Amino acid sequence: MLSSLRTGVQGLWRISSRSIQTTASRQHDSLFVHRDTPEDNPSIPFEFSQANQKRVEALLAIYPEGHKRGAMIPLLDLAQRQSGGWLPISAMHKVAEILNLPKMRVYEVATFYTMFIRRPIGKYHVQVCTTTPCWLRGSDAILNAIKQETNCEVGGNSACGKFSVSEVECLGACVNAPMIQVNDDYYEDLSVEDTKEIISKLKKDEKPKPGPRSGRFASEPLGGLTSLTEEPTGPGFGVQDALKA
Ligand code: FES
Repeated sequence: MLSSLRTGVQGLWRISSRSIQTTASRQHDSLFVHRDTPEDNPSIPFEFSQANQKRVEALLAIYPEGHKRGAMIPLLDLAQRQSGGWLPISAMHKVAEILNLPKMRVYEVATFYTMFIRRPIGKYHVQVCTTTPCWLRGSDAILNAIKQETNCEVGGNSACGKFSVSEVECLGACVNAPMIQVNDDYYEDLSVEDTKEIISKLKKDEKPKPGPRSGRFASEPLGGLTSLTEEPTGPGFGVQDALKA
Protein backbone atom coordinates (compact mmCIF):
# COMPACT_ATOMS: atom_id res chain seq x y z
CA MET A 1 0.00 0.00 0.00
CA LEU A 2 2.77 2.36 1.08
CA SER A 3 4.94 1.42 -1.88
CA SER A 4 2.09 1.87 -4.38
CA LEU A 5 1.40 5.31 -2.82
CA ARG A 6 5.07 6.18 -3.20
CA THR A 7 5.06 5.01 -6.83
CA GLY A 8 1.97 7.14 -7.48
CA VAL A 9 3.56 10.25 -5.94
CA GLN A 10 6.75 9.66 -7.91
CA GLY A 11 4.67 9.32 -11.09
CA LEU A 12 2.83 12.57 -10.32
CA TRP A 13 6.12 14.30 -9.65
CA ARG A 14 7.45 13.08 -12.96
CA ILE A 15 4.37 14.40 -14.78
CA SER A 16 4.30 17.74 -13.00
CA SER A 17 8.04 18.31 -13.39
CA ARG A 18 7.91 17.66 -17.14
CA SER A 19 8.15 20.91 -19.06
CA ILE A 20 5.01 21.62 -21.07
CA GLN A 21 6.59 24.44 -23.00
CA THR A 22 8.60 23.17 -25.94
CA THR A 23 9.34 26.37 -27.85
CA ALA A 24 11.55 29.24 -26.76
CA SER A 25 9.62 31.69 -24.63
CA ARG A 26 9.39 35.22 -25.95
CA GLN A 27 9.03 38.49 -24.14
CA HIS A 28 5.49 39.45 -25.08
CA ASP A 29 4.51 41.55 -22.10
CA SER A 30 5.39 44.73 -23.95
CA LEU A 31 2.18 44.08 -25.89
CA PHE A 32 0.03 44.52 -22.81
CA VAL A 33 1.85 46.33 -20.05
CA HIS A 34 2.54 50.03 -19.81
CA ARG A 35 5.46 51.19 -17.70
CA ASP A 36 6.10 54.90 -17.29
CA THR A 37 9.27 56.03 -19.03
CA PRO A 38 10.73 59.53 -19.45
CA GLU A 39 9.39 59.64 -23.03
CA ASP A 40 6.01 58.02 -22.35
CA ASN A 41 4.16 58.88 -19.17
CA PRO A 42 0.82 60.53 -18.35
CA SER A 43 2.42 63.79 -17.24
CA ILE A 44 3.52 64.55 -20.82
CA PRO A 45 0.69 66.64 -22.31
CA PHE A 46 -0.95 65.61 -25.57
CA GLU A 47 -3.24 67.78 -27.68
CA PHE A 48 -4.36 67.21 -31.24
CA SER A 49 -2.90 69.76 -33.65
CA GLN A 50 -5.26 72.33 -35.14
CA ALA A 51 -5.47 70.43 -38.43
CA ASN A 52 -6.10 67.15 -36.65
CA GLN A 53 -8.66 68.77 -34.37
CA LYS A 54 -10.75 69.39 -37.51
CA ARG A 55 -10.30 65.76 -38.49
CA VAL A 56 -11.40 64.70 -35.00
CA GLU A 57 -14.60 66.71 -35.39
CA ALA A 58 -15.22 65.26 -38.85
CA LEU A 59 -14.72 61.73 -37.53
CA LEU A 60 -17.02 62.28 -34.56
CA ALA A 61 -19.71 63.66 -36.87
CA ILE A 62 -19.90 60.28 -38.63
CA TYR A 63 -21.23 58.56 -35.51
CA PRO A 64 -24.68 59.25 -34.04
CA GLU A 65 -25.16 60.56 -30.51
CA GLY A 66 -24.66 57.76 -28.00
CA HIS A 67 -22.32 55.85 -30.35
CA LYS A 68 -19.37 58.25 -30.54
CA ARG A 69 -17.11 55.54 -29.13
CA GLY A 70 -17.21 54.01 -32.62
CA ALA A 71 -14.66 56.69 -33.53
CA MET A 72 -12.09 55.28 -31.12
CA ILE A 73 -9.89 53.45 -33.64
CA PRO A 74 -9.75 56.34 -36.16
CA LEU A 75 -8.95 58.74 -33.31
CA LEU A 76 -6.19 56.52 -31.96
CA ASP A 77 -4.80 56.16 -35.47
CA LEU A 78 -4.82 59.94 -35.88
CA ALA A 79 -3.06 60.35 -32.53
CA GLN A 80 -0.46 57.76 -33.51
CA ARG A 81 0.25 59.50 -36.83
CA GLN A 82 0.59 62.84 -35.08
CA SER A 83 3.04 61.33 -32.58
CA GLY A 84 5.45 60.04 -35.21
CA GLY A 85 4.09 56.53 -35.63
CA TRP A 86 3.58 55.46 -32.03
CA LEU A 87 0.86 55.97 -29.47
CA PRO A 88 1.84 57.61 -26.16
CA ILE A 89 -0.28 56.97 -23.10
CA SER A 90 -1.22 60.68 -22.92
CA ALA A 91 -2.71 60.39 -26.41
CA MET A 92 -4.84 57.45 -25.23
CA HIS A 93 -6.02 59.57 -22.31
CA LYS A 94 -6.92 62.40 -24.69
CA VAL A 95 -9.01 60.01 -26.81
CA ALA A 96 -10.75 58.72 -23.66
CA GLU A 97 -11.49 62.31 -22.68
CA ILE A 98 -12.90 63.18 -26.13
CA LEU A 99 -15.11 60.10 -26.18
CA ASN A 100 -16.06 60.51 -22.53
CA LEU A 101 -15.01 56.96 -21.75
CA PRO A 102 -13.06 55.35 -18.89
CA LYS A 103 -9.35 55.14 -19.81
CA MET A 104 -9.56 51.37 -19.50
CA ARG A 105 -11.86 51.17 -22.56
CA VAL A 106 -9.13 52.86 -24.63
CA TYR A 107 -6.34 50.70 -23.16
CA GLU A 108 -8.35 47.60 -24.15
CA VAL A 109 -8.43 48.66 -27.79
CA ALA A 110 -4.87 50.01 -27.96
CA THR A 111 -3.42 46.82 -26.51
CA PHE A 112 -5.56 44.47 -28.61
CA TYR A 113 -4.60 45.77 -32.05
CA THR A 114 -0.93 45.33 -32.86
CA MET A 115 -1.16 48.23 -35.34
CA PHE A 116 -1.03 50.52 -32.33
CA ILE A 117 2.62 50.82 -31.35
CA ARG A 118 3.06 51.77 -27.72
CA ARG A 119 6.77 52.53 -27.67
CA PRO A 120 8.81 55.15 -29.49
CA ILE A 121 9.83 53.83 -32.87
CA GLY A 122 12.08 54.86 -35.73
CA LYS A 123 11.10 56.93 -38.73
CA TYR A 124 10.66 53.78 -40.82
CA HIS A 125 8.74 50.93 -39.25
CA VAL A 126 9.68 47.85 -41.25
CA GLN A 127 7.18 45.05 -40.71
CA VAL A 128 8.19 41.69 -42.10
CA CYS A 129 5.49 39.10 -42.71
CA THR A 130 6.73 35.65 -41.72
CA THR A 131 3.45 33.75 -41.90
CA THR A 132 3.37 30.48 -43.91
CA PRO A 133 3.03 31.72 -47.55
CA CYS A 134 5.72 34.37 -47.03
CA TRP A 135 7.87 31.96 -45.06
CA LEU A 136 7.64 29.35 -47.85
CA ARG A 137 8.72 32.04 -50.32
CA GLY A 138 11.80 33.03 -48.30
CA SER A 139 10.77 35.53 -45.62
CA ASP A 140 13.55 34.25 -43.33
CA ALA A 141 16.17 35.51 -45.79
CA ILE A 142 14.28 38.82 -46.15
CA LEU A 143 14.17 39.27 -42.38
CA ASN A 144 17.87 38.47 -42.02
CA ALA A 145 18.75 40.96 -44.75
CA ILE A 146 16.68 43.65 -43.02
CA LYS A 147 18.27 42.95 -39.63
CA GLN A 148 21.70 43.10 -41.21
CA GLU A 149 21.10 46.23 -43.30
CA THR A 150 19.36 48.21 -40.56
CA ASN A 151 21.53 46.87 -37.76
CA CYS A 152 18.32 46.39 -35.82
CA GLU A 153 16.86 43.37 -34.08
CA VAL A 154 13.18 42.39 -34.22
CA GLY A 155 11.23 44.47 -31.70
CA GLY A 156 13.99 47.07 -31.44
CA ASN A 157 15.10 50.36 -32.93
CA SER A 158 18.30 50.95 -34.87
CA ALA A 159 21.00 53.00 -33.16
CA CYS A 160 20.55 55.75 -35.79
CA GLY A 161 16.87 56.01 -34.77
CA LYS A 162 15.73 55.59 -38.36
CA PHE A 163 14.48 52.01 -38.32
CA SER A 164 12.29 49.76 -36.23
CA VAL A 165 11.81 46.15 -37.25
CA SER A 166 8.82 43.99 -36.40
CA GLU A 167 7.93 40.45 -37.35
CA VAL A 168 4.20 40.32 -38.13
CA GLU A 169 1.48 37.88 -39.06
CA CYS A 170 -0.11 37.79 -42.53
CA LEU A 171 -0.55 41.27 -43.98
CA GLY A 172 -3.04 40.06 -46.57
CA ALA A 173 -0.74 40.14 -49.59
CA CYS A 174 0.12 36.43 -49.68
CA VAL A 175 -0.21 36.25 -53.48
CA ASN A 176 2.76 38.61 -53.61
CA ALA A 177 4.84 36.78 -51.01
CA PRO A 178 7.36 37.47 -49.60
CA MET A 179 6.48 41.01 -48.65
CA ILE A 180 7.15 43.73 -46.12
CA GLN A 181 5.33 46.86 -45.02
CA VAL A 182 7.21 50.09 -44.40
CA ASN A 183 4.99 52.67 -42.69
CA ASP A 184 1.91 52.73 -44.98
CA ASP A 185 3.46 51.08 -48.05
CA TYR A 186 3.68 47.46 -49.17
CA TYR A 187 6.75 46.07 -50.97
CA GLU A 188 6.01 42.72 -52.56
CA ASP A 189 7.47 39.80 -54.54
CA LEU A 190 10.76 40.57 -52.84
CA SER A 191 14.18 39.10 -53.31
CA VAL A 192 17.03 39.74 -50.87
CA GLU A 193 18.54 42.20 -53.37
CA ASP A 194 15.25 44.11 -53.64
CA THR A 195 15.07 44.30 -49.87
CA LYS A 196 18.61 45.63 -49.56
CA GLU A 197 17.87 48.25 -52.20
CA ILE A 198 14.71 49.36 -50.37
CA ILE A 199 16.60 49.76 -47.09
CA SER A 200 19.47 51.61 -48.73
CA LYS A 201 17.00 54.10 -50.29
CA LEU A 202 15.30 54.60 -46.94
CA LYS A 203 18.66 55.26 -45.34
CA LYS A 204 18.99 58.19 -47.74
CA ASP A 205 15.38 59.23 -47.03
CA GLU A 206 14.41 58.40 -50.59
CA LYS A 207 11.08 56.73 -51.13
CA PRO A 208 11.36 53.33 -52.86
CA LYS A 209 8.55 52.60 -55.31
CA PRO A 210 5.92 50.54 -53.47
CA GLY A 211 4.26 47.45 -54.94
CA PRO A 212 5.50 44.22 -56.52
CA ARG A 213 9.14 43.90 -57.58
CA SER A 214 8.48 41.10 -60.05
CA GLY A 215 7.23 43.31 -62.83
CA ARG A 216 3.62 42.50 -62.05
CA PHE A 217 1.15 45.37 -61.82
CA ALA A 218 -0.64 43.79 -58.85
CA SER A 219 -1.32 40.12 -58.09
CA GLU A 220 -2.13 38.90 -61.61
CA PRO A 221 -0.43 35.65 -62.74
CA LEU A 222 3.22 36.13 -63.69
CA GLY A 223 2.85 33.90 -66.74
CA GLY A 224 -0.08 35.77 -68.28
CA LEU A 225 -3.82 35.31 -67.92
CA THR A 226 -5.18 31.79 -67.64
CA SER A 227 -8.87 32.69 -67.37
CA LEU A 228 -11.21 35.51 -68.39
CA THR A 229 -9.23 35.71 -71.60
CA GLU A 230 -12.22 36.31 -73.97
CA GLU A 231 -13.73 39.68 -74.79
CA PRO A 232 -16.14 40.68 -72.02
CA THR A 233 -19.79 40.07 -72.90
CA GLY A 234 -22.13 43.03 -72.97
CA PRO A 235 -25.09 43.85 -70.74
CA GLY A 236 -27.98 41.40 -70.98
CA PHE A 237 -25.73 38.40 -71.73
CA GLY A 238 -27.32 35.15 -70.55
CA VAL A 239 -30.63 36.78 -69.65
CA GLN A 240 -33.74 34.79 -70.74
CA ASP A 241 -35.47 36.26 -73.78
CA ALA A 242 -38.68 36.62 -71.76
CA LEU A 243 -36.91 38.89 -69.30
CA LYS A 244 -35.34 41.13 -71.91
CA ALA A 245 -37.02 44.49 -72.37
S1 FES B 1 1.45 35.33 -45.49
FE1 FES B 1 2.60 37.13 -45.86
S2 FES B 1 1.07 38.46 -46.60
FE2 FES B 1 -0.05 36.70 -46.13
